[in-house]
Amino acid sequence: MTHTSTRHSKKPINGLFLVGFMGSGKTSVGQVLSQRLGWNFVDLDARIEVRQGCSITEIFRNLGESGFRRGEHEALLELLREMKASPAVAALGGGAFVQAENFRLLKASGVPAVFLDAPAEELWERCRLEKHRPLAQNLNQFRQLYESRRPLYMKAALRIETSGEDAETIADEIRVQLGLTCQRKEK
Ligand code: S3P
Repeated sequence: MTHTSTRHSKKPINGLFLVGFMGSGKTSVGQVLSQRLGWNFVDLDARIEVRQGCSITEIFRNLGESGFRRGEHEALLELLREMKASPAVAALGGGAFVQAENFRLLKASGVPAVFLDAPAEELWERCRLEKHRPLAQNLNQFRQLYESRRPLYMKAALRIETSGEDAETIADEIRVQLGLTCQRKEK
């Protein structure tokens, strides 16, 4: 597994964001990592669904992508307020980190973002049979969106190459790279 780090701060870490394209494993890695660290786990998409009382697919259908992005931004503001009080591992939907206003807020929060990376073809294989991702239409469209966003994901503090790795291995790699201590006994 390879990683690239641009994190220089020695300040203690009181949370982290998992970012990256659809299918990169943000939710599964986030769940494992939060257990290891004894931190809360927040999935921003799940929170948006609870806040709006309908699924991501329905939000896209009823309000379009711009309506979804507004709800996503509001949910992120709420999450950032909460993370000041208690540390959390937060998995952000694939578009959240690349919206300019969100990026500015995330950067200003000082909470590191970790980019889970994998080739577009592998991500597509993980997503193509699922029905809940309105922005995963076909391989060409998926790859173009991935390529347009990748330079922005690369602005995260740490990049982890996840190809062929399981969630436990990736979670441990992030923990080691960020110097975070395990709070619970590993099985
Ligand atoms: C999106 C990714 C999805 C979800 C929404 C939009 C995107 O989350 O937020 O469908 O813009 O890439 P996942 O990355 O968890 O699939």
